[in-house]
Amino acid sequence: MRMYDIIEKKRDGGELTKDEISFVVKGVTDGSIPDYQISALLMGIFFRGMSEKETLELTLDMAHSGETADLSGIKGDVADKHSTGGVGDKTSLIAAPIAAALGVKIAKMSGRGLGHTGGTIDKLESIKGFSTTLSREAFINQVNNIGIAIIGQSKNLVPADKKLYALRDVTATVNSIGLIASSIMSKKLASGAKNIVLDVKTGSGAFMKKLPDSIALAEKMVKIGKGAGRNIVALITDMDKPLGNYIGNSLEIKEVIEVLKGGGPEDLKEESFAIAANMVSLAKGADPEEALTLVKGAVADGSAFEKFKEFVAAQGGDVSYIDNPEKFPQAKYASQIRAKKDGYISHMQTEDIGICASLLGAGRTKADDKIDFSAGIILNKKTGDFVKSGEVIATLYTNDESTLDSAERKFISAISYSETKPEKRNTVIKKVM
Ligand code: URA
Repeated sequence: MRMYDIIEKKRDGGELTKDEISFVVKGVTDGSIPDYQISALLMGIFFRGMSEKETLELTLDMAHSGETADLSGIKGDVADKHSTGGVGDKTSLIAAPIAAALGVKIAKMSGRGLGHTGGTIDKLESIKGFSTTLSREAFINQVNNIGIAIIGQSKNLVPADKKLYALRDVTATVNSIGLIASSIMSKKLASGAKNIVLDVKTGSGAFMKKLPDSIALAEKMVKIGKGAGRNIVALITDMDKPLGNYIGNSLEIKEVIEVLKGGGPEDLKEESFAIAANMVSLAKGADPEEALTLVKGAVADGSAFEKFKEFVAAQGGDVSYIDNPEKFPQAKYASQIRAKKDGYISHMQTEDIGICASLLGAGRTKADDKIDFSAGIILNKKTGDFVKSGEVIATLYTNDESTLDSAERKFISAISYSETKPEKRNTVIKKVM
């Protein structure tokens, strides 16, 4: 088989066979196909797309290109969730302990933040002592003993995706729905869970800015999941404003604690509870409405919060921080952003708000950047709120005073005002199943 012929076939709109796709994934993984030929094929796929069959074959081959998690040692129904990434998205840390408190097994591998989006692993590491690496045996034992463990992704999970993503990134081929779907789903399949809830964001802070694209991505990923024999649903959720009011690692842990104790902002509660309910519904075969009642009950009776503390303690975290969130170190510098005029906040350019948090030190622009766990933003007002001129909209926090100027400018330019109240967007927009 020759890579030249495969590129030519895709260039001309042909459908690649299972063997041809396997040849490509093997050559990408072992380095035997040069980058220029892989890049040419990626561009061919970008323009010609992939059939359902091709997308599934590519995903399955990629999922098996490296280590895969063997969760067969876990007793019970394992569920996982995945978000396509956003600003202020801490739903994993709320939904996972709730589902675990209701008897679902959570054996989760999460990622770090990059660019304008945060990552669950960074948030957890803002808790003193918390370890996000566990041996395979310790991981499985913890899930069997307390129902939940969350660790960083193994370096050797889906090496074919690492290579392909790096090439897509420099050849302007990231934004192909088929390639995104196979990239995300290959990692989810390799992570092993039988039951998967996808949270596909849409709006100015999302990877997919337009609703039809988010729905198309969700539909593709659900088809792949089903084709691979998993139980899977996708929720399309709003990321046209940050989720919740706190952005930044330890700030977000504080908001997680608020929600698990029964408080917190409505949008964050609604979305996290919907995700948890779908995890419970898939894993336990429960009716989704009944599952939602169970989820709310686990928060109201304190069992979800207790499960979160048990999980933090099991991975070496100092639980006194969870009981007394004021113990999290506070950033040295704070800057209040005030409204420039009277009116409604009509829009928040959410990607820019994520970049603002990153500039303050809460995120990374390069994979090896160090994070300032206490840096971030607390929002007092969001899209749809009425503000008076001079009223505080948000407070920016950092330990590096030199970042404040550019972060303030970024934040201010992200906010638009109007005289009339903007139309309300739902938090959970649609379910794809
Ligand atoms: N996230 C991924 O993991 N892969 C993509 O291609 C895009 C977003």
